[in-house]
Amino acid sequence: MTTKFPLELIALLRVSSRVAVLTGAGVSQESGLRTFRDAQVGIWAQYRPEDLATPEAFERTPRLVWDFYATRREGAGGAEPNPGHFALAEMEKHFAKFTLITQNIDGLHARAGSQNLLELHGNLRRIRCSRTCGVVDEWEQLPDVVPTCPRCGAMLRPDVVWFGENLPQYELETAIHAANTCQIFFSIGTSGLVQPAASLPVWAKQNGAVVVEINYDPTPLSNHVDYVFRGKSGEILPDLLKALIA
Ligand code: OAD
Repeated sequence: MTTKFPLELIALLRVSSRVAVLTGAGVSQESGLRTFRDAQVGIWAQYRPEDLATPEAFERTPRLVWDFYATRREGAGGAEPNPGHFALAEMEKHFAKFTLITQNIDGLHARAGSQNLLELHGNLRRIRCSRTCGVVDEWEQLPDVVPTCPRCGAMLRPDVVWFGENLPQYELETAIHAANTCQIFFSIGTSGLVQPAASLPVWAKQNGAVVVEINYDPTPLSNHVDYVFRGKSGEILPDLLKALIA
């Protein structure tokens, strides 16, 4: 079934030059990747974030954490961008300033061709020194151990943001600027429960943007936005693109 969009929303999109989009795990669900909080199938329904996604967990059980992310890296590497990712990459071409802010670490937006992309929580495929040497391009993976930094010998870790860690400064500042200055803000496939990303649509609204939510389920944001579209982003976003260019 094709999604119907209010005419005034499409008219506003056509005259807008500054659009910001925030995406979450729901956008990659149709690529076969698990979300975090969906009951039963979400990653956090099976594991506790504090056991796998904190600096303390990495200190306590580095192998467990490394293996968890290695499995997710393999999963993301084997997945393909879905029609939602491609629609966003195509939409970008129709606006003077289009900022795609993602909480996803799977790299699928970049693989779909999105250009002005801010990966707020890092990227699974990037590996860095757990001390200060930064990103490492090559390392030796011996069986059953966490690989170490070729420069200083510290353990390597995925270049992702764990709970309790700061977000990358450039990405966060640019995302806040985009939220505060856009005319339309889309919140797509995110439960809106993790800060500071969850505040971006709120700040956009406070600064006068029209806010649109696309999500399978209701979220804490749903009652505060201008338009809500319930369903799969991989179906709604291609419909939105079609309506925009019709
Ligand atoms: P969540 O798993 O919390 O939320 C995913 C949202 O997408 C839910 O509201 C689902 O209803 C919705 N959803 C599922 N499938 C969908 C589909 N096909 N189309 C549209 N919506 C769909 O994931 P995030 O909000 O991304 O952070 O989680 C935010 C952060 O919490 C993650 O970046 C991660 C996690 O813990 C860290 O690890 C630091």
